[in-house]
Amino acid sequence: MSILLGLDVGTSGTKAVAIDQSGKLLTSALVEYPLLTPKPGWAEQSPAAWKDAALDALTALAHAPEVNAADVKGLGLTGQMHGSVFLDANNKVLRNAILWCDQRTAKQCEQITEKVGEKKLIEMVCNPALTGFTAPKILWLRDNEPEVYEKVRKVLLPKDYVRYELTGEFATDVADASGTLLFDVKNRRWHTDLMSLLDIQADFMPKAFEGPDVTGTLSKEAAAITGLPEGIPVVAGGGDQAAGGVGCGIVRTGVISSTVGTSGVVFAFADDVSLDPEGRVHTFCHSVPGKWHVMGVVLSAGGSLRWYRDALCDEEKTLAAETGRDPYEYITEAASGAPVGAEGLLFLPYLTGERTPHKDPYAKGAFVGLSLRHDKTHMGRAVLDGVAYAMRDSLEIIREMGVPIEQVRASGGGAKSPFWRQIQADVNDAPLSTINVDEGPAYGAAILATVATGLYASVEEACDAIIQVVDTCEPVADNTRQYDKWFAEYQKAYTALAPGFRRVAELLS
Ligand code: XUL
Repeated sequence: MSILLGLDVGTSGTKAVAIDQSGKLLTSALVEYPLLTPKPGWAEQSPAAWKDAALDALTALAHAPEVNAADVKGLGLTGQMHGSVFLDANNKVLRNAILWCDQRTAKQCEQITEKVGEKKLIEMVCNPALTGFTAPKILWLRDNEPEVYEKVRKVLLPKDYVRYELTGEFATDVADASGTLLFDVKNRRWHTDLMSLLDIQADFMPKAFEGPDVTGTLSKEAAAITGLPEGIPVVAGGGDQAAGGVGCGIVRTGVISSTVGTSGVVFAFADDVSLDPEGRVHTFCHSVPGKWHVMGVVLSAGGSLRWYRDALCDEEKTLAAETGRDPYEYITEAASGAPVGAEGLLFLPYLTGERTPHKDPYAKGAFVGLSLRHDKTHMGRAVLDGVAYAMRDSLEIIREMGVPIEQVRASGGGAKSPFWRQIQADVNDAPLSTINVDEGPAYGAAILATVATGLYASVEEACDAIIQVVDTCEPVADNTRQYDKWFAEYQKAYTALAPGFRRVAELLS
């Protein structure tokens, strides 16, 4: 039997999966670490914590009863995108990594946009300057910590730092590289002209490979620590969204995914480079060689429901602890007692600013339209509805761009609740399917490893063999009609509140 591993360097932890060549999940391991928020709006993590977690998770797999370590034939990597690991001339980490959800770089984004021009930037790298992306982080370091910047010799994305620790090689993949704002997404190579315009050294960035390419092999040291065979190929893999797309079988035109994790992502496959001239959705290389993807990112999707649970649902949490159920089950059950649209109560899920469609780091969350009639059933429903509206914003832009949408596949924690799936199908007026396996990006990275090791001829062939739709939730016409009305109000609520969000940010600073 051949066993393939996938490793996802995520934001709350690193997850590793082991699959056989038919795609059957043999076992998985998760090692968590903290998110550091040294200042409001900042988000950092220690690269050493990622390395330790990766080694621990791989060790757990190698010693699991379901895995014969000698059968492991390859390892695919994936991870949170956009984060910056700064290394010095001795390849030592210079400071904590700045993460995808960090909002400190608004000024640097403005500088990049002014210097290059908004339209020109989208022409060059297919995307606008957004606070989460890597290039503005490099400029932030230069502006704010010049003594650290002076020592920088390499800038790595999170999973690529772990790759370096596992193989000794510097490499990345085209999908993750696309989220740096320094990558020529059309031609799948670094944009050296843009780098010189921004005065960023081209040799900071590692060589970029296609998703199923082999970038190195597991080192003797890493093999000794984990118990995995030395020399197994380590595969380029992909940024977590592209690898997650592979894990959901989003490898053909017309099939898109809607993933509700901490963030929410609407992800569409694209045969060619497809651009939104306003840059409201991201256009990145896919982990399928020679293909692209378009995606909208909602920064606080599942994160909004988690906030609601932690801020307002102590009662549900206590009940869940007593009964052994999940607090989210109590929250969604209560929410189902409120009608479609929560009797005019809207929730804006912009708790950490928003990317799609607003590109607004200052946006804030809000309940709009509270009255004496509303109680917690309405508030819970408003949160579920609000996240679905935010996802619909992305879907609408992808539709407008002419990207075909024939099937939407649900994944992530938000796909677990049948009630929330129905809301999403109704809000989108599109059927929402679930698939046979929902193991996220780590699983997609393991699929890329099946291709790299020759078990399948292509990513498409692997996905066709491994992934099937198991259930489809159809939209209910009457609900869809009502949601259309409330969605229009939801969109107007942001427009009305946006200037206030900016003023509040100024007052707070
Ligand atoms: C994608 C994005 C997030 C992170 C963390 O653009 O910012 O999905 O990759 O998961």
